[in-house]
This record gives sequence, C-alpha cells and structure tokens, in this order.
Amino acid sequence: MLRGFLLLFVLTGVALVAILGFRGQKGSQPPFELFPDMVRQVKVRAQAPLGFFADGRGPRLPVAGTVPIGYEMPNPENTPSGAPPGESLSHQRVAFSAGTDYYNTGKMGDRWGTGIPIEVTPQLMERGRERFNITCAMCHGATATGNGITKQYGLATVVTLQDDRIRKMADGEIFNTLTNGKNTMMAYGPNIMVADRWAIIAYLRALQRSQNASINDVPEEHHAEMEKK
Ligand code: HEC
Repeated sequence: MLRGFLLLFVLTGVALVAILGFRGQKGSQPPFELFPDMVRQVKVRAQAPLGFFADGRGPRLPVAGTVPIGYEMPNPENTPSGAPPGESLSHQRVAFSAGTDYYNTGKMGDRWGTGIPIEVTPQLMERGRERFNITCAMCHGATATGNGITKQYGLATVVTLQDDRIRKMADGEIFNTLTNGKNTMMAYGPNIMVADRWAIIAYLRALQRSQNASINDVPEEHHAEMEKK
C-alpha cells in the first residue's frame, strides 16, 4: 500500500518535471500562466504601433476641431470657427468673463433682466443653433421638448423647455441656469462663452416660438401657399 503510494508519488514528480521543466530553464514556448491578471493588456504604448486602428498607428492625432487640454482656451481672436458674432468690444478679451453687468450675469440690479444684450443677427441665430445642438440637445432634445438621447439612458429629470413657465422666464434667469446650473442640471458656464450663451438663448426663443406658431407668424405673402397645403 505504502510502496504503491511512494511509487506513484515519484512517478508523478518525474512526470511533472518532464512536462514543466526545471526551475529557471529556458524554453521557446511562452510560459504557462495560470492567473495572468493584467500583466499583458491591450493598450496604447507611447510611440509604438498598434494593430487596433486601421492605420496601425498607436498614438492618435487630435480629432479635428477639438482643443487638447492644456492648450489656450478659445477666445474671440483665435476661435477656430471665428469670433462669436455680436461680441462687443469690451468683452473681446474675456470670453468667459465674470463681470457684474447684465451681459455677464443676467441680472439687472437684484432681479433677472430680460432681452438679448447683443445684436440678434442671422449669424447669431445660426451660431445659437449650432451651440444648442452641441451642448443642450442631447438632454433637452433638438426642439427643446425634453426628449434628448440621455433620457433613454436614465436621466429622468430633464425637463421640456417648451413649458409655459420656461417660455415666460426672463432671459437673464435662463442665462443664469446655463452659466451656473440649476438643481440636477450642471453648470455650462465653463464650457460656453458668454456671447454663445446669449446666442443659445436667442435660438431657444426661436425654438419655443416654432412650437407655438400660428398663421400670423407666417409672412402675409406666403399665406396663400400655406392654404394650398
Ligand atoms: C446633461 C443634461 C443637460 C444638458 C446638456 C443641459 N441641460 Fe438643461 N436641464 C437638465 C435637467 C436635468 C434640468 C432639470 C433641472 C431640475 O430642475 O432638476 C434642466 C433644466 C433646464 C432649464 C429649466 C430650469 C428651471 O428653471 O427649471 C433650462 C432653461 C435649461 N435646462 C436650459 C438648458 C440649456 C439652454 C442647455 C444648453 C446650454 C442645457 N439646459 C443643457 C439637463 C441638461
């Protein structure tokens, strides 16, 4: 009984050494790893090629139109897409300024003011449309009805901006909401230049009107066309 066990033990030992080899022995096969954990992982190495991307290049070039961290923030003089329209002279240097006037705070004295403090031009509306679609639409939806894509991912508190309350809200209060956030909405002041915030509000007003338009909003000369449809 004992002899049989010893024989089996020795044979097993010999078999193990035959299969796994001596300690420190070099082999051409990669070592067998029981728990490799994170010893080897798919990752980008500096200056090394990578098969993951079609061009075989590991380090990536910055995406066109993005601003890498650490670079100068856009200001009206070097904004890639040009200066935001309507930027008044006194604000040209401080695109993310924190002055105390209506333009910078939305407040007139100690109450919310209303009105767009820069000239509303077709370019400003276009800029507002672009900025709204980039910074607001994923939550509030392209027509501001509160049905952006984030809703499907569980952001349940997003509100419609077509609400009567928001429609009647002073522009200055909306400006403050964008700048500093409100309840569960984050602050977008650090991401959006002051002039662009006003462009967004001007565009939002147009969106609100577009969802509540009557025949009187259509220029007289187009009425006949409307009736045909
Ligand atoms: C990440 C999602 C998200 C984005 C992006 C976002 N919002 Fe909101 N917004 C919310 C949520 C959530 C609320 C509801 C806040 C609350 O009352 O809890 C809200 C509320 C508001 C309100 C109503 C505030 C009030 O007084 O009730 C306004 C106005 C508004 N957003 C405008 C904007 C504009 C303009 C933008 C683009 C610059 C924007 N939001 C971008 C999530 C977002």
